[in-house]
Amino acid sequence: MISIKSSREIELMKATSALAAKTLEYIEPFVVPGVSTEEINKLCHDFITEHGAYPSPLNYHGFPKSVCTSLNEVICHGIPDKNDILKDGDILNIDVTTYLNKFHGDTNKTFLVGNVSPEVKKLVEVTYQCMRAGIASVVPGGHIGDIGAAIQEIAHANGYSVVEDYCGHGIGREFHEAPQIVHVGKKGTGPEMKPGMTFTIEPMINLGQKDGKLLKDGWTVVTRDKKWSAQFEHTILVTPTGHEILTLRQEESL
Ligand code: MF3
Ligand code: CO
Ligand code: CO
Repeated sequence: MISIKSSREIELMKATSALAAKTLEYIEPFVVPGVSTEEINKLCHDFITEHGAYPSPLNYHGFPKSVCTSLNEVICHGIPDKNDILKDGDILNIDVTTYLNKFHGDTNKTFLVGNVSPEVKKLVEVTYQCMRAGIASVVPGGHIGDIGAAIQEIAHANGYSVVEDYCGHGIGREFHEAPQIVHVGKKGTGPEMKPGMTFTIEPMINLGQKDGKLLKDGWTVVTRDKKWSAQFEHTILVTPTGHEILTLRQEESL
């Protein structure tokens, strides 16, 4: 069952989502060569808790940290570690989820660390475009499959693959709710989008093949071919006329 949020619930979704977005804005100047992903975790944890919220990943099904930090060939769910030190040319995805006033807000961004190769920089830029194209397809009366169709068109036109093993999701009182948002698809398929639905769109796009492999830590997902992967995520509200990006940052435009 896909929950429809009331106007009161939508206000609370806006508040938690805005805090998640603010956390990504706050952390940006710290994402530089020499910093460890554990330091980034600690800074995000403190920022979130100082704003009266709880970092949703912490202890979620046993996840040991407050944010996910996914470096280079890591597709998603990387675990912050004091021994993972950022170096020039890396790409780092930081995935922040906040729990504020009983509602979750979920967003992530792939940061460029110093000077990144043109090939990888293009991957990151196209991945952002993929997410925005998925978001642009959100309108009441549309179908969830429209999102994946829009994303895969851009990814494949650029010679990239789209990860299928991990998806976007409904979000609200629960971190992960129905429906699943698959990032490939066919227009006109899947559940109908209705005003008051809230879900994430979070495509993971790979330079090489789509297949991932889970590491022995039980969380970190890396590409099988070791080629690099990028991701962006926003929490979206379906409005009566279209959609609203609840986790929009100041650096982004509408
Ligand atoms: N924030 C991730 C998502 O976008 C989920 C992380 S689950 C965790 O859905 F346990 F790894 F934190
Ligand atoms: Co998510
Ligand atoms: Co997330």
